[in-house]
Amino acid sequence: MDYHILVNKNNPLPRAHIPNDLIDVGSKYKEGIKLNTKVKESFDMLKEEALKKGYYIDIESGYRDYDYQEKIYNRLAAEKGFSYAITRIAEPGKSEHQTALALDFCIYRDEKCYIENEIEDFEETQWVHENAHKYGFILRYPEGKEDITKYSYEPWHLRYIGSLAEYLYNNNLTLEEYYQEKEKIS
Ligand code: DAL
Ligand code: ZN
Repeated sequence: MDYHILVNKNNPLPRAHIPNDLIDVGSKYKEGIKLNTKVKESFDMLKEEALKKGYYIDIESGYRDYDYQEKIYNRLAAEKGFSYAITRIAEPGKSEHQTALALDFCIYRDEKCYIENEIEDFEETQWVHENAHKYGFILRYPEGKEDITKYSYEPWHLRYIGSLAEYLYNNNLTLEEYYQEKEKIS
């Protein structure tokens, strides 16, 4: 498994790309959410660490196949228009969710679940942003890097890249910038 794979608007996956090694994450939010096994195990460790702080995080979206991504992209584009949708949701084939290495986390407070923009100012969210790299995750669409990632700020979307996460976090780099830097060196 290539945990460093770059999937974005310029680096799409074929419709037939279905990752192996998928496992049910056992999320309280919804049944049937799947991720790559290593990613699930790493998230479980992050979740356990969060619990020690009294924070309850879980997963609201994990692996999405091409057809499902197409459905949700078309739905948002129909509802809000193309120019809104294009910076918020990936077109089919262009979503990291198709790799099973990306997830959207949610936050439970008093049995109520908060998702997406609702969690932007939560202290749990800030904690996740400051600690996820220790478990191999990066915040994939950070604030201030919209021109590079081509997506609006998503405080909820984490991407697993393994030990490289430490380097990207410490140097404030997106995955796109990491690959650009690598190309310059080689
Ligand atoms: N919201 C992210 C960009 C996705 O759809 O993959
Ligand atoms: Zn996401």
